[in-house]
Amino acid sequence: MTNSKHTNGGVSLPLNQILSGDCIEVMDALPENSVDLIFADPPYNLQLKGELHRPDNSKVDAVDDHWDQFDSFKVYDEFSRDWLRAARRILKPNGAIWVIGSYHNIFRVGACLQDAGYWIMNDVIWRKSNPMPNFRGMRLTNAHETMIWAAKDEKSKPTFNYEALKALNDGVQMRSDWVLPICNGHERLKDAEGNKAHPTQKPESLLHRVLIGSTNVGDVVLDPFFGTGTTGAVAKKLGRNFIGIEREEAYREVAARRIKDTRKFDKESLEVSTSKRAAPRVPFGQLVERGMLNPGEKLYALNGRHTAKVRADGTLIGNDCKGSIHQVGAALEGAPSCNGWTYWGFRKEGKTMPIDLLREQIRAEMSA
Ligand SMILES: C[S@@+](CC[C@H](N)C(=O)[O-])C[C@H]1O[C@@H](n2cnc3c(N)ncnc32)[C@H](O)[C@@H]1O
Repeated sequence: MTNSKHTNGGVSLPLNQILSGDCIEVMDALPENSVDLIFADPPYNLQLKGELHRPDNSKVDAVDDHWDQFDSFKVYDEFSRDWLRAARRILKPNGAIWVIGSYHNIFRVGACLQDAGYWIMNDVIWRKSNPMPNFRGMRLTNAHETMIWAAKDEKSKPTFNYEALKALNDGVQMRSDWVLPICNGHERLKDAEGNKAHPTQKPESLLHRVLIGSTNVGDVVLDPFFGTGTTGAVAKKLGRNFIGIEREEAYREVAARRIKDTRKFDKESLEVSTSKRAAPRVPFGQLVERGMLNPGEKLYALNGRHTAKVRADGTLIGNDCKGSIHQVGAALEGAPSCNGWTYWGFRKEGKTMPIDLLREQIRAEMSA
């Protein structure tokens, strides 16, 4: 990765750079259909009234910066519509966006996203394992933020590394509630006086999950509200390219230093579990056509409970049920559905082997 202009599929992009200026103007100057993913952490529009103090009277370091001030909801909505329009233009047809926010802004942003033509895929609750207490004791402790994951449009097929996320979650399907700590300790960047360099620095763990789940090595990830560059730092570690946009010089400097000190993980460790859904489709009938299984041959349920016979057209018959490997498996088990590929086995040299092995053999030939 370098800091020079790079071509990405023929278009010239300022890869691995932090661009200065207003994100709408900067995005408008980038080529259309050129970015794989956008991660956006826009101003929250917190509308804080007065200072906030802890019980010991110390001042809470809240987000009261000028970049978070909007005169009204109307002005905030206009701003949201403008940056979301600019972001959508530069997304590739199968691109996607993540927007993170709190109750102050996320519902407004969600409506703007849908109005702009994006297609919402999920909303994720980031539940903070160590939230700030509610010092005034007047409301519930605000212990989560919401992230919306949306495709460029209804027809887009954004990257989703299902298996990699499942692997991250100890083999259990990843859910839409993520419990992760807020950014503190060594990760929290400080200025020369030892104060927080930025009031809303996001934890790297959050970006790690987002980027593993929705990008591949070499993809281009743009963050229009770069702040301390959390997106850029994690993108660099994971071998993704980033483009950061930030209006404030002080934040750009912090982010640039941080990214310079960040090392990319080695190539081998960046390979992740791949989704079988992404692999080419192999119909069961092909195993029969190619003589890997013969009409009349018996298949055995891997749980030992049932058998069925292969028919010449790639269907099965077992206990008077006829149909696909999935249909016959489901009917014999009395289940609403069944993945025939992992349910059935064939006999070879006295051993029962999953028929999925034969499908893998065909796929290996296809990719050779
Ligand atoms: C919520 S913070 C992002 C924090 C970042 N995710 C991090 O982990 O450090 C929003 C950032 O957007 C910047 N910003 C606000 N409006 C902007 C605009 N119109 N163009 C570019 N940057 C903007 C602010 O200066 C602020 O640093």
